[in-house]
Amino acid sequence: MAAHLSKILSDSEKVFDFVVNEGNGVKGLCDMGIQELPNQYIQPLEERITTSTVITDDSIPIIDASNWDDPKVADQICKAAQNWGFFQVINHGVPIQVLDNIKETSHRFFSLPAEEKKKYTKENSVSRNVRYGTSFTPEAEKTLGWRDYLSLVHVSHDEASLFWPTSCREEALEYLKRCDTVIRKILKSLIAGLNVKAIDEEKEQLLMGSKRINFNYYPKCPNPELSVGVGRHSDISTITVLLQDDIGGLYVKKIETNDWIHVPPVNGALVINIGDALQIMSNDKYKSVEHRVIANGSKNRVSVPIFLHPKPTSVIGPLQETLKNGEKPIYKQILYSDYTNIFFSKGHDRKDTIEFAKI
Ligand code: OGA
Ligand code: NI
Repeated sequence: MAAHLSKILSDSEKVFDFVVNEGNGVKGLCDMGIQELPNQYIQPLEERITTSTVITDDSIPIIDASNWDDPKVADQICKAAQNWGFFQVINHGVPIQVLDNIKETSHRFFSLPAEEKKKYTKENSVSRNVRYGTSFTPEAEKTLGWRDYLSLVHVSHDEASLFWPTSCREEALEYLKRCDTVIRKILKSLIAGLNVKAIDEEKEQLLMGSKRINFNYYPKCPNPELSVGVGRHSDISTITVLLQDDIGGLYVKKIETNDWIHVPPVNGALVINIGDALQIMSNDKYKSVEHRVIANGSKNRVSVPIFLHPKPTSVIGPLQETLKNGEKPIYKQILYSDYTNIFFSKGHDRKDTIEFAKI
């Protein structure tokens, strides 16, 4: 085993082959007993998070949604979307057991033998909506991220039944179903803050016409201070609903000060963030902010985000309702699939994708 590992590590092309092309992921390296970070995972200094670049006495809002009908909840959600772009919601109605189950499902999927996971790599997966991979876009990235993932796009129940891995299909579908109410309540509050009264069929396609659930796996890293789990980026969704475990490591860039703030794990909470699509639709009222995940030296971390996106065929731009009082549009009308294609054609590079949509 050790001899095999040193052979792989002796050549960076072999590392890439093993991790990316052969679908072993970074977990595969860990399972081989890796002691030192391979070169392509060593981040340039400016991308590493150190205690000197992080502020500890500040935090994103935690919103108690015990009573969704209380207008104060909607108000807090809109304010957080404007001032932070990130917030946590507690007492949202999704039972703890459902949250625990889906985290367990994530651990279970990644502990499957590599042969099983490999069925879902870009080369092997029979559906474009099912993808197991590592880092973000390894072919386009200068430095790789210490993360493996499984990504499932929800088209329909039937499609999922045919193509999603049996090891997590039922659980993922159930989790999506259980989160539907929270998702709708949050979107409704946000959209009301943009003068839109209700989510009709057309708005529904625009706000959540496409859903993606990801399972992220960040294995214990031999040199966490030199690497990152996921590099700085903003999401391109309308909103993202993220479940994290109790390990921590997600950092968010604070608007105005640009300090990096930790998002502390709160038991039972869902972390919500605004994505580029909603920033565009709100004509910059709501902010899609940069975030990143550090690597951990002692534990395997999982997170499960649900990304709500416009339908790929939707044309997105500042909503009519937000421009009513003569506000100038900052963004043009663009086909959402064009936006997605740009995002996935490069590595994570901060908030650059949104520049493409500006007038
Ligand atoms: C993402 C992301 C954060 C996390 O998947 O886009 O930012 O905590 N994940 O895993
Ligand atoms: Ni993200």
